[in-house]
Amino acid sequence: MRAKITVVGAGNVGASVAQRLVERAYADIVLVDIIEGMPQGKALDLLESGPISGFDSQITGTNNYQDTAGSDIVVVTSGMPRKPGMSRDDLVLTNAKIVASVGREIAKYSPNAVVIVVSNPLDAMAQVAYRVTAFPKERVLGMAGVLDTARFRTFLAQELNTSVHDVEAYVLGGHGDTMVPVVGMTTVAGVPIDQLMSAEKLSAIVQRTRDGGAEIVNLLKASAYYAPSAAVVQMVDAIMLDTRRVLPCSAYLNGEYGISGLFTGVPCRLGRHGIEEIVSIPLTEPEQAALTRSAAAVREAVEIIDARKNDVDAALPQLFEQPTTRVPA
Ligand code: NAI
Ligand code: 2OP
Repeated sequence: MRAKITVVGAGNVGASVAQRLVERAYADIVLVDIIEGMPQGKALDLLESGPISGFDSQITGTNNYQDTAGSDIVVVTSGMPRKPGMSRDDLVLTNAKIVASVGREIAKYSPNAVVIVVSNPLDAMAQVAYRVTAFPKERVLGMAGVLDTARFRTFLAQELNTSVHDVEAYVLGGHGDTMVPVVGMTTVAGVPIDQLMSAEKLSAIVQRTRDGGAEIVNLLKASAYYAPSAAVVQMVDAIMLDTRRVLPCSAYLNGEYGISGLFTGVPCRLGRHGIEEIVSIPLTEPEQAALTRSAAAVREAVEIIDARKNDVDAALPQLFEQPTTRVPA
């Protein structure tokens, strides 16, 4: 029997993730949305591409979480995307309610799933999913670092007129203005980046990376989805195929990198069980300080949720309570 992957939210990111995954052919896909007919229509359209693209895996669309039961992986893209001029944190309360309600359904129907959160503000939404599902920390992660790192690598490769394959880099921290492109570990074909371009040029590329999401929103008048869906699928590949690749993901930290009780982007070894290891890489003092500042920005977003616990949907009280017990790993 093939594995089962649910994608929640059949909008731009969710539908692109579903397309990339069904074409992988290693799992059957369930696409869920609250809009009636929309996930069913997109799923049927994708299914009918099978004979042309050459896959036999199944994809179905639904508005009912019963159809998602027993999923191995659930990708959560449901929520409002960021509109021009809107910060990611503006989205926090609306998307917290959505992610909390989705998290409850995941915990009910797919208690053994690995959950990959995509909805923004990313790190705070991963925290919401972690609280609501009560899953072990290894099985809840957020996608942002793979995307931010891809943007950084793209801009560096363009500037140096080289292949993106030769650019090695990490972008860590929260998915926001404070994200941390780790310049000290960035190399091109093994050569440290600061030997290949001026500090001014490098600093401009770091800033463009931090503004990468906004750059697309300003052009497209909608949130990016091609690179985000590719990033999600790189993480799913690592889990499905148990590759144990080290990828930058938002993970719940318990003292690693000096951060506790919070989701933040760090290098993670991904495998069949989700996060197999949080990998420690040497950071310079300024890089560690930048990571600490970035985590503080994530904490602010989480505190927005906590501060509003009395006037946000009373039907979701568990959003604001740390579960006393977690589902076993
Ligand atoms: P979209 O608007 O195209 O799709 C969102 C979908 O979620 C809609 O179809 C909507 O009906 C659905 N939805 C809303 N509430 C739902 C619920 N309770 N259950 C199921 N589905 C529900 O938005 P898009 O562009 O796909 O973005 C989705 C999210 O991903 C946004 O929050 C966006 O900011 C975020 N994002 C995050 C990235 C990252 O790097 N982490 C990158 C790109 C987008
Ligand atoms: C992005 O970085 C908006 O988070 C989204 O494209």
